[in-house]
Amino acid sequence: MSDSKDLTPAAGDAAAPATQQALRPGEWPRADVAHHLRRTDTDPRAQKRAARQVAMMFLLSVLMVVLFIVAFVAIPRDAVITLPYIGAIGALTAAMGVTFGLAIFLIGAGAVHWAKKLMSDVEVVQERHPMKTDAEDTAVAADIYQVGKESSGFAKYPVIRRTMLLAMALVPIPFIVSLRDLWVTPPGITTPSEELLVTLWKPGMRLVTDITYQPVRADDIPVGGLVNVVPADLPLDEEETGNLDARAKSAAIIVRMTPEEIQSQQGEGWDYQGILAFSKICTHVGCPISLYQQRTHELLCPCHQSTFNLADSANVVFGPAARRMPQLPITVDDEGYLVAVSDFQEPVGPSFWELKESYS
Ligand code: FES
Repeated sequence: MSDSKDLTPAAGDAAAPATQQALRPGEWPRADVAHHLRRTDTDPRAQKRAARQVAMMFLLSVLMVVLFIVAFVAIPRDAVITLPYIGAIGALTAAMGVTFGLAIFLIGAGAVHWAKKLMSDVEVVQERHPMKTDAEDTAVAADIYQVGKESSGFAKYPVIRRTMLLAMALVPIPFIVSLRDLWVTPPGITTPSEELLVTLWKPGMRLVTDITYQPVRADDIPVGGLVNVVPADLPLDEEETGNLDARAKSAAIIVRMTPEEIQSQQGEGWDYQGILAFSKICTHVGCPISLYQQRTHELLCPCHQSTFNLADSANVVFGPAARRMPQLPITVDDEGYLVAVSDFQEPVGPSFWELKESYS
């Protein structure tokens, strides 16, 4: 690369080599630096070939953008492909990722190829000013260090010096040891404990909204609607429940779709005329979810974008969650209000005990 600076060493610059010549950009060859001409510097045909290669990479990038758009329009959102070592992933997500990634990569590769083969590669040398601290400043720093050493007694009390160094050396160990829990399942935990399997839902318990605590009538839920619900007999003070976690774990959502839109459920007849109830607690790390897209029936967690298809047993279609959202079996009572048929049949919330497994 050429440089527009005048590279002549400054007059009186002690660091400049005695033999340094005044250099100007573009002056070549220099006697002290070996330069190897590239094939494209001497062969016009190689030059044209390199230009074609660069243009081809840019054109392939254009093709990838076109394929991205085609994939976005043509691939169904629920199509899944299975890859070795990765498992099942959304076909649309994979196609969009590959095509857009290649589009960006090819622009970068074309630019690099262009620079290496066709742009000017004349070497230049820019001398640096001396980096070493001068003797006077070094002496001042040494004096300051000596004064500090004497006044602190650092040298005088070796027992303090050694124990302090030992203490400082060991302080990072707790942080390093605690990193172990990032990838190791706590000992003895292989299945969910009994407590994780139980929430406050009981057979016949009404579903009430989480704001007004009014029971929800099945006829009041429109197709495409979503309502946040909790168990009707939710004890409101901590002494009664003895377990605030159980209240938090019981939060649920209900959505309504037409019965024909339901592809599968976690249990036979767990819906009521297209009304489905699911846990509200994300199975990834436990964020509450209520972002629902009626057209695709997908429930999206705002924390890390795990996406669940509520029309297909709430299976994971995207994101880091390892298992589906548990479904609550529901029906209606004599007055037409939605009630639970039983508790959840799968543990709700994050699944730390099954880091290497997946339900769905
Ligand atoms: S908590 Fe839902 S995706 Fe992470």
